[in-house]
Amino acid sequence: MKVLVVGSGGREHALGWKLAQSPQVTAVYIAPGNGGTALQKGLYNVDITNLHALADFAERNQITFTVVGAEAPLAGGIVNLFRSRSLEIFGPTREATQLESSKDFAKTLMKCYGIPTAEYKTFSDANLAHAYVQEKGAPIVIKADGLAAGKGVVVAQTLNEAHCAIKMMLTEHKLGAAGTRVIIEEYLQGEEVSFIVMVDGKHVLALASSQDHKRLLEGDKGPNTGGMGAYSQAPIITPQLHARIMREIILPTVRAMEQEGLRYTGFLYAGLMIDSQGNPKTLEFNCRMGDPETQPIMMRLKGDFAYVLEHALSGTLNTVQLEWDQRTAVGVVLAAHQYPYAPRKGDRIHYIPEQTETVVTFHAGTTLVDGKLVTSGGRVLCVVGLANSVREAQSIAYEAIHSIHFNGMQYRRDIGCRALNCNH
Ligand code: AMP
Ligand code: GLY
Repeated sequence: MKVLVVGSGGREHALGWKLAQSPQVTAVYIAPGNGGTALQKGLYNVDITNLHALADFAERNQITFTVVGAEAPLAGGIVNLFRSRSLEIFGPTREATQLESSKDFAKTLMKCYGIPTAEYKTFSDANLAHAYVQEKGAPIVIKADGLAAGKGVVVAQTLNEAHCAIKMMLTEHKLGAAGTRVIIEEYLQGEEVSFIVMVDGKHVLALASSQDHKRLLEGDKGPNTGGMGAYSQAPIITPQLHARIMREIILPTVRAMEQEGLRYTGFLYAGLMIDSQGNPKTLEFNCRMGDPETQPIMMRLKGDFAYVLEHALSGTLNTVQLEWDQRTAVGVVLAAHQYPYAPRKGDRIHYIPEQTETVVTFHAGTTLVDGKLVTSGGRVLCVVGLANSVREAQSIAYEAIHSIHFNGMQYRRDIGCRALNCNH
């Protein structure tokens, strides 16, 4: 088998790394990949991002199947295009991707089908939006309807912040088309969990649960980022809660999409808030795996992932059982100077330790210049440690990090702490 992974982040490195371990797989191509995937055994970078050129590549090289990591190609219709050319690809169609690309679509679907989520209203008129937050009070959450590169959600602690967010999106159009409609949503308290599943159109196979740390600074402070680290398993997801999330959120969503004529295939990521009584509510859906959640999840997945994807593509996920390493994986992101505002590029990266069974460094914003690794994006590396306890997994990851160096490197020293309850 030859497989193609589309994307260039740590998530795609981890997917490719796992697929390359499959005894059936002879080559994993990554388009466009990064400095780490270029160096990884069994992985081959392909410098293509245009969707038609990717389909040409898959056809020419007789790729068995393609897996898409990032949302942009999905929203751009890569699955529609590949299918129209009879090329096997795992991901949702452009139309089904609305679950992520339009928050109004996702909220309306959840409301119609009784899927638990925060109370909300959608506005395109600024005056009505201002009046609504005045009536509801703070804290309150303002969300741009469309994809806004992580800048579209304002969790307003005060009315003033809420009014500013409305003004920024609806009056000043700072987020462009993404902000022409806003969702104003009830503020939910609790613990956030990433619940990711694979869907073959009909059957659903849950991956291991995980939690990420979205804020830049220790103690969950500072600005939101794409994620500064993640761990799996999430101890808050008991078997009972897992069953409830499947029953109340995941399966009804997959059925709702089918009823709407938008049959869902691909990874489906539900961002959930679990309240103090253990009730789950949906914060958002993503039509892809999480980054950095994928890195610890892949580290724990046992067996042949290519076999699982083959079943996902033939609609037989109901015949597959995933086996997980019972150990905990903790992944710590090393970010560039000035991430997330204006990450600096071009810093030389030194001393990445060799991969072992218990520690792997997945690359994201790295590239090779004259054969040397340099930074090329905000989140540069994700170092994952695997061990019997959260504390041991942390110490393995942090020990590896001590040897790594690039100028301006920043990371949180408390990844995994929520699993140890140290922030409560
Ligand atoms: P989203 O892109 O919708 O997941 O929002 C980004 C982040 O904002 C989430 O990961 C949460 O931390 C936070 N958030 C979103 N919606 C709410 C809500 N209704 N209540 C509290 N926090 C929220
Ligand atoms: N780590 C959050 C995300 O992938 O959206």
